[in-house]
Amino acid sequence: MYLDNAATSFPKPEKVYEAVLHAMREVGASPGRGGYRRSLEASRILFQARETVADFFSIADSSRVIFTQNATGALNLALQGILTAGDHVITTSMEHNSMMRPLYALRNKGVELSVVSAGPDGIVSVDDVRDAVRKNTRMIAVSHVSNVCGAIQPIIRLAELCRSVGALFLVDAAQSAGHLPVDIKNSGIDLLAVPGHKGLLGPGGTGFLYAAPHVPLKPVVQGGTGTNSTSEEQPLVMPDGFEAGTHNLLGIAGLQAGIEFICERGLSTIHQHEQALLIQAEQALRIIPAVTVYGPSDPSHRCSALSFTVCGVDSALLAAELDHSFDIAVRAGLHCAPLAHRTLGTQPGGTVRLSPGWSTTSEEIAFFSDAVVQCIGKIRDSA
Ligand SMILES: Cc1ncc(COP(=O)(O)O)c(C=O)c1O
Repeated sequence: MYLDNAATSFPKPEKVYEAVLHAMREVGASPGRGGYRRSLEASRILFQARETVADFFSIADSSRVIFTQNATGALNLALQGILTAGDHVITTSMEHNSMMRPLYALRNKGVELSVVSAGPDGIVSVDDVRDAVRKNTRMIAVSHVSNVCGAIQPIIRLAELCRSVGALFLVDAAQSAGHLPVDIKNSGIDLLAVPGHKGLLGPGGTGFLYAAPHVPLKPVVQGGTGTNSTSEEQPLVMPDGFEAGTHNLLGIAGLQAGIEFICERGLSTIHQHEQALLIQAEQALRIIPAVTVYGPSDPSHRCSALSFTVCGVDSALLAAELDHSFDIAVRAGLHCAPLAHRTLGTQPGGTVRLSPGWSTTSEEIAFFSDAVVQCIGKIRDSA
């Protein structure tokens, strides 16, 4: 049983596998690299996928969608492509290393960094972020949803704050895209970093960055774009100048199919299904003696993932036992977000995290919670 959709979603909808195979077997060529029919068909797939992404996120101009390898690539582009020495950036203690490590690297190059601590439930206070604003604050960068405890950040109010202080707003939608509505037109988000392989149900190796038209983004990778070939400079044309090198067409074709599947099933249907499973899991876990569940107490302030610990039981050992005895895949440890564990009080061992997906059933969650009880007993007996 796979309960690690926060890492990457599995299984994918059938049409995603079909789209990947179609692009691989029937198309084969690279987009924008030739005038022959196969390359033109590859370009059509690429264009159509960009349009599908734009429609799904209410992005007016699909050329502002830059395909990347994953959310990490999108975050690096957003941060390194904008921030320079002397700029100030504010982030939160709930961020993934995909946000923190590029920020630490930029701090070494003279960018000022403030990390605002979230509350013990993982939600950051807009007032605390406001208090951290300086004259040179160029950007506020937050994850929409915590990958550790599922806490949903108040992004609409943070966007208003950004507008009022003239800062750019970067949102890491790694755990919200495909789970919660993200509407660029009405949100005030300037930069949105999204993985294609998690909630959007596309294959690994996919993701994108949306950059609003007023954002002065610079490419961070130089190379062939299939255009302006005589220029020694990397073209700044969107999106080509930001997608140097051969595209992951197979992945992008699959990503488009993943988004189409979500639209057919309905984002709110998927969201309600996943929320019901998280509530079921939380209720079952809370009645197990010695279990602590982390994150917001109100389930409407949480989505995608649930974290827990068992007093006296090592999280990694419990996850390993769930795998070995019951073939249940959950993740244990720090989930690449060490500061979040300082905030939640789960250092140094971290938590066990479960993250159901569109195909997880209520019966599987019941099986999971029974298995947790048995594994705890087994670990305690062998201690
Ligand atoms: C909140 C958050 N940001 C960024 C990432 C990085 O995503 P990717 O693996 O697509 O680079 C993850 C991955 O788990 C995440 O949970």
